Amino acid sequence: MTRVYNFSAGPAILPQEVLEIAQKEMLDYKGTGMSVMEMSHRSKVYDKIIKTTEANLRKLMNISDDYAVLFMQGGASAQFAAVPMNLAVNHKRIAVVNTGAWSDKAIEEGKRFVEVDVIASSKEQNFTFIPDVDKLQIPSNVDYLHIVSNNTIYGTKYNKLPKTNVPIVSDMSSSILSEEINVNDYACIFAGAQKNIGPAGLCIVIVKRSLMGKEMSITPKLYSYSATDKEESMLNTPPTYGVYLAGLVFEDLLAKGGVKAAQKRNEEKAKILYDFIDNSKLFKSPVNKSDRSLMNVPFLTGSDELDSKFLAEADILGLVNLKGHRSVGGMRASIYNAMPTAGVQKLVDFMQKFENNNK
Ligand SMILES: Cc1ncc(COP(=O)(O)O)c(C=O)c1O
Repeated sequence: MTRVYNFSAGPAILPQEVLEIAQKEMLDYKGTGMSVMEMSHRSKVYDKIIKTTEANLRKLMNISDDYAVLFMQGGASAQFAAVPMNLAVNHKRIAVVNTGAWSDKAIEEGKRFVEVDVIASSKEQNFTFIPDVDKLQIPSNVDYLHIVSNNTIYGTKYNKLPKTNVPIVSDMSSSILSEEINVNDYACIFAGAQKNIGPAGLCIVIVKRSLMGKEMSITPKLYSYSATDKEESMLNTPPTYGVYLAGLVFEDLLAKGGVKAAQKRNEEKAKILYDFIDNSKLFKSPVNKSDRSLMNVPFLTGSDELDSKFLAEADILGLVNLKGHRSVGGMRASIYNAMPTAGVQKLVDFMQKFENNNK
């Protein structure tokens, strides 16, 4: 068996320990004689899996009973419609800060249901920074402000939130569980699973209960937060195996010291990479220093030819999926929770060698 260091932006690397447990339990989950995949979602055994998964996420993120935790489907993209249908119900108007493709998509989808006010944008500079949150003019007649906490493609992240009474909705698909946050600062947090949580297909939604239950009448039942909550995320067959794997990831994270310890590891890993890039004569980071992501690190040589050469040589060394998104070019290392420090160190060692060889 050869495992590579997988720097994919998502679906992404998962902890090897988790995959090994899943492998061990594949044919016979805890003496049931069947795989979790083959199990009724209404069975007692599965009920325990989904309840424990939720309880562990609550523990990891310190989520109070004021918030519902929902296991939904349709990826994070389904939430671009579900959030306005559920939460943009008073003013039928939302504010969005445009920090990249995933806010663009939320804007486009939101417009199908409500008025969308794009109150700031970094589009003109190819999303290389986060607009100053202290300068945001957030209208008071909006139902919420939509932000993308971490911009997977461009490698930017918010380091602080705007001070506002307007409820904040955050797409945390690529940063959930990577650093400590205060859930109480948000009206709603959602995240597709395929980066820090588990396999694609599952989307986690954390939503303030006091805002639920007023959804638009056009809201499909499967997109309704209150209906999903009432049926404990079992309006229909949930993505059973995805929830089980998320549960294993949460247990693994708890055993490794929770989100606080994960954040420390992530900061150390990111520092190794950013320090190298900042001192390099060949590689550059396109991102504003104070807005740099802990999870997604784009870097460029400035030459398409050298970038291709780098990617090909890295691949041979087992450093894979480093190609940057087409809208940024160059390389991007996604260093999610499950990426070991050794993987980042091996990448930096190779970057140094490549730089020496290509002066
Ligand atoms: C920040 C962010 N939001 C939304 C999405 C879309 O997720 P999905 O493919 O699960 O709909 C992604 C996917 O990479 C993402 O990075």
